Amino acid sequence: MSTSVDLQNLYTSLNLEIAAVARYQDHQNKTSDPLILALLQGLMRNENGHERDLIKLIDRYKGDPKVAETFPGPTLEQMIFTGDQIFGQKTNLAMLRADFEFESEAVKIYSGFAAQASDEQVKELFLELARAERGHVNGLRSLIKGIEEKTHETAFFCPVCGWTVSFGANPTPGAESRCRMCGVQFSLTMTDGDFGLVRK
Ligand SMILES: [Fe+2]
Ligand SMILES: [Fe+2]
Repeated sequence: MSTSVDLQNLYTSLNLEIAAVARYQDHQNKTSDPLILALLQGLMRNENGHERDLIKLIDRYKGDPKVAETFPGPTLEQMIFTGDQIFGQKTNLAMLRADFEFESEAVKIYSGFAAQASDEQVKELFLELARAERGHVNGLRSLIKGIEEKTHETAFFCPVCGWTVSFGANPTPGAESRCRMCGVQFSLTMTDGDFGLVRK
């Protein structure tokens, strides 16, 4: 290969991907919005794939993936509560804004590693990772924009049957909606900046 710089960068990247998977798992647990949950699951799945690709390459170059754990991890926030606050979307917005910063940083890191790489396969992987994280940045940007512009539909998993109960874009507390699958009626509540559901 591959100078030790390449291997060091592969370790740093593996550490970053492990943190990305943990971040998206944590954020899935923090949302009750079916669309946001699905997107976060998609991102986590993709980051899992990055982890596997990095481990494969580290193995090929006779490194030890466990060494990655000894590298300093990313220090970016898990939640960003600053910026314009949108009614009922405090938690969703805070985590998506933090994820946006995290992915933007990842694009910079991987582009830098690609430029440094002396091995062709390492370079290709870093370019592909930068491409993927840039896709995450774009997806997160458009999701955040939808929430900020109040075009994002407020929805929940039905606590009775698990289907989606939607309240449309930009609803107000007290708005009512009936689950189209089980027929149970719910109304929208607001607690500490976040919308919630209560059964009627
Ligand atoms: Fe990734
Ligand atoms: Fe239901």
